[in-house]
Amino acid sequence: MKYDLNEIKKDVYWTGYLDWELKVFHGYSTPHGSTYNSYLLLDEKPTLIDTVKHYGFKESLDRIEDIIDPRKIEYIISNHTEMDHSGTIDELLDYCPNAQVVCSPKGEEGLKRHFKKRWRFKVVHTGDELDIGKRKLQFVLMPMVHWPDSMATYSSYDKILFPNDAFGQHIASNERFVDEKDQGFVFQEAAKYYGNIVMPYGAQVLKTLDVLSSIDFDMICPSHGLCWRKQEDIQKIIECYKKWASYETENKVLIVYDTMWHSTEKMAFKLNEILKEEGVVVKMMNLQDVDISDIVTEVLTSKFVLFGTPILNNCMLPSMASLLMYLKGLKPKNRYAFTFGSYGWATIGFKEVEEFIKEAGFELMDEGKYLKFIPDEKELMQLASIVSIIKEKIKG
Ligand code: FEO
Repeated sequence: MKYDLNEIKKDVYWTGYLDWELKVFHGYSTPHGSTYNSYLLLDEKPTLIDTVKHYGFKESLDRIEDIIDPRKIEYIISNHTEMDHSGTIDELLDYCPNAQVVCSPKGEEGLKRHFKKRWRFKVVHTGDELDIGKRKLQFVLMPMVHWPDSMATYSSYDKILFPNDAFGQHIASNERFVDEKDQGFVFQEAAKYYGNIVMPYGAQVLKTLDVLSSIDFDMICPSHGLCWRKQEDIQKIIECYKKWASYETENKVLIVYDTMWHSTEKMAFKLNEILKEEGVVVKMMNLQDVDISDIVTEVLTSKFVLFGTPILNNCMLPSMASLLMYLKGLKPKNRYAFTFGSYGWATIGFKEVEEFIKEAGFELMDEGKYLKFIPDEKELMQLASIVSIIKEKIKG
């Protein structure tokens, strides 16, 4: 099949796969699909940067064949072992058997574990150069952004940075550039991507940003979603990454809850009402309606998160357990929490909620507020005490 040629700069082509149908990416909801970006650099030694997920092979190969005979490819750079980017190296090597696979030391280890093949590896480190003709490609190892093997490739000739997962978004799109889409939408998806994929690795992101600050690029081509080319967009996404990686938050409250017989819901609504009356920015999310990955996007920028669950069989509701287990892995820092909920005869389950929240890295602001069966208005007003605490913390 013939595709549009996606030449993003002279002799730099996008040859990836558009995954319009993707709805979940290892537990992260992707209602807008995703892309697995692969880039072909035409030079004396044609070079491919990253491949695609296994089922995108044919489309990606077709895109390559529309540009050159794949047998001419001399290097396949694997910036990251994860199979959404390295999943088709093996099949591709059938078409370019002489190509060398360029990767980090951890990349070599990971690719050998995945494929059990004796490919011709070329292992690179930060600062190494790969001469492919006009271009001398450079590499920056960026462990844990997203895996220990992750690295960025830089072409000074094109002034393009290829940072793999960093700066990505899960968006399938016929457009290739951020400035061709609605900005609010792309930045929201970039925030969701950071929160759900990169959040645990703030320290490593800051180190990488520091290294990248000495590199002169005017385009960022990530491995998912759209490329960044407008200078103001590039500045803005880098600033966002600095802020997110530093665990900076805004003075706003997220109330996340589930409910059985509407009692915990009443408490959530009362908290929302009082906070709003006090002029605090507040948002409510019901676990029955919202995917946990969208809740994480809000957690990313919220200084205060109020968790509400009733007790079922001496435990929190499974929806809350799922969120808290997810947050435990993502480890948000510098955030305050509060717990609330309704119970019938025993409060022991709330202890587990509090423990999970502490393990996820939150600081509990006060003792949780737990009310028996159906709260009346006077009991609901007891929630005002946490609102005072939040207001004090906002004042600093
Ligand atoms: Fe897009 Fe960590 O893979």
